[in-house]
Amino acid sequence: MRALVTGGAGFIGRWVVAELLSRSADVLVLDNLSSGCEANLAEFAGRSGFREFVVGDIRDRRLAGALLGRGVDLVLHLAAKINVQDSIDRPAETFDADVAGTFGLLELCRERRTPFLFMSTCMVYARALDRAIDEKHPTFPASPYAAAKLSGEALTLSYGQAYGLPVVVVRPFNTYGPFQRADGEGGVVSIFCQRELAGRTLDIYGSGRQTRDLLYATDCARFVVEAAAGDRVRGRVLNAGSGRDVTVNELAAMICPDAERIRHVEHIHPQSEIMKLQCDYRLARELLGWEPQVRLEEGVERVREWLRHQTR
Ligand SMILES: NC(=O)c1ccc[n+]([C@@H]2O[C@H](COP(=O)([O-])OP(=O)(O)OC[C@H]3O[C@@H](n4cnc5c(N)ncnc54)[C@H](O)[C@@H]3O)[C@@H](O)[C@H]2O)c1
Repeated sequence: MRALVTGGAGFIGRWVVAELLSRSADVLVLDNLSSGCEANLAEFAGRSGFREFVVGDIRDRRLAGALLGRGVDLVLHLAAKINVQDSIDRPAETFDADVAGTFGLLELCRERRTPFLFMSTCMVYARALDRAIDEKHPTFPASPYAAAKLSGEALTLSYGQAYGLPVVVVRPFNTYGPFQRADGEGGVVSIFCQRELAGRTLDIYGSGRQTRDLLYATDCARFVVEAAAGDRVRGRVLNAGSGRDVTVNELAAMICPDAERIRHVEHIHPQSEIMKLQCDYRLARELLGWEPQVRLEEGVERVREWLRHQTR
């Protein structure tokens, strides 16, 4: 198998590349480095399956077409502008990268009949008050980011339906792990661990009673690769998460035992907050045999270790 991973120099992308290489696939990466970085791929340089890392934009049709023309038989489309606040401030940029960009890739895949995985997100779901979210749960875009993802999903599924293109849409829940950015654009686990290690306060937006279902990066990558390769999931939408949700308050206390260093600050986008996020991943278990393997406590420890190592 020869796979093209868009956004492969990003946080989840580099774990997907690692997973593909561990399965002896050939891998090409296309990434414009807008939020990813070359260092995320450094350890793969020289590995026999790691064919090439091309710095470029998914919207560059000629470039993307030339890459697909190099015997690619699977596209895993992860490249996206992922910052919710940015999407609220500058929706046109998110639309252009995440919707128009996805459309362009689908067109190329249609011409070549290349199977296509679209990386969506749990952020597309409507509020769930008291239960885990399965794929039948209603969607409702609370931000232009979520709207762009829903549009990408719809386009992807329509190419499956209208052209018989082998497609799959995946909706991982909040993913965390080493290589995730620990600045404002990063994930909550990395940001909290980084601040804790630096002896700073952990800032919680709003009440902190919002819950997150945190999926460890290697579990997410294994899910993505299995979904991309799985015949039984063609044309489907699939969730992946840990199945357990924790409040942001609980997460902060797990990472920083000193309660004095945890404070609540005004939410930056309360209108786009989802108060309860817990994943029901039974469909992925049934169709792919996929299960998460890394417990939150273990995953947090690995992030902490990784960050410690980075700052040494
Ligand atoms: N992090 C999460 O919790 C999470 C959860 C569910 C889904 N996702 C999805 O997973 C994917 C990867 O997210 P991530 O957390 O690794 O973010 P990330 O920002 O680290 O990765 C995105 C990558 O895409 C690249 N990119 C962005 N626009 C591009 C363009 N136009 N052309 C080429 N490359 C471009 C960036 O440089 C970056 O390397 C995204 O599609 C995101 O929506 C993330």
